[in-house]
Amino acid sequence: MSRLLAISDLHVRYPENRAYISTMRPGDPGDWLLVAGDVGEVSDDIEWALGELRDRFATVVWVPGNHDLWTFRDDPLQLRGEARYRHLVAMCRRLGVLTPEDPYPVWDGPSGPVNVVPLFTLYDYSFRPEHASTKQEALAIAYDRGIVCTDEVLLHPDPYPSRDAWCAARIAETESRLSTLDTARPAVFLSHYPLIREPTRVLRYPEFALWCGTSRTADWHRRYRAVAAVYGHLHIPRTTWHDGVRFEEVSVGYPREWGRRDHGPGPPRQILPALGARDA
Ligand SMILES: [Fe+2]
Ligand SMILES: [Fe+2]
Repeated sequence: MSRLLAISDLHVRYPENRAYISTMRPGDPGDWLLVAGDVGEVSDDIEWALGELRDRFATVVWVPGNHDLWTFRDDPLQLRGEARYRHLVAMCRRLGVLTPEDPYPVWDGPSGPVNVVPLFTLYDYSFRPEHASTKQEALAIAYDRGIVCTDEVLLHPDPYPSRDAWCAARIAETESRLSTLDTARPAVFLSHYPLIREPTRVLRYPEFALWCGTSRTADWHRRYRAVAAVYGHLHIPRTTWHDGVRFEEVSVGYPREWGRRDHGPGPPRQILPALGARDA
């Protein structure tokens, strides 16, 4: 039986994570794999990993994570911001990997049909600490506590003036795409960031939530009849339920993180068909 599977935060810069990729095999020739971003930090690594996965899975769908969008000093690819994203999308097209720029594919396997909706919406500093009412106040608190995402140095928003401006443009474009979605079918969302803030409440450093999404996607799981919302970025793999919708954090994370788990990084998460009991 074919399955809709998901993984994220492969971070293949680490040799242990590269080795993990070689263990990833479909259980059925019809299995799809959703990849929720942070494949790697340099373009050759991203291309290698997605090419390997594309060779094995029937369909691979990728969305960018912040690390994929970094302009890292060791990367021969020095494009910044939107130009880097477009370059990665073109690379995916060559490989036969689907991205947020393609028509939304339909999973027609068991528990289907569902719209598979890959998103690139970034973040806009709206997941602020309670007593901060603006982005500036929130960033001041985070800097003061020494909790600052490396994105502030390596994720360039060019040609937009800021990452939140880029986020606003992506939201506008995505909302117009979503307005054409056939809502007779339910949806599975795929994004690097959680669509809602709740999953960030367990962050070890709560200030980091600033770099983890936008409040502008807060009702999308309800509005578009999501059966599951797949995300990564937090490196806290788990399943939670919000408004009756299953949220799946599917990250592998760094070797120092998955090395602490009993069973290592584990296989990709099965999204459909759904696996019985609720794991809240
Ligand atoms: Fe990550
Ligand atoms: Fe990330």
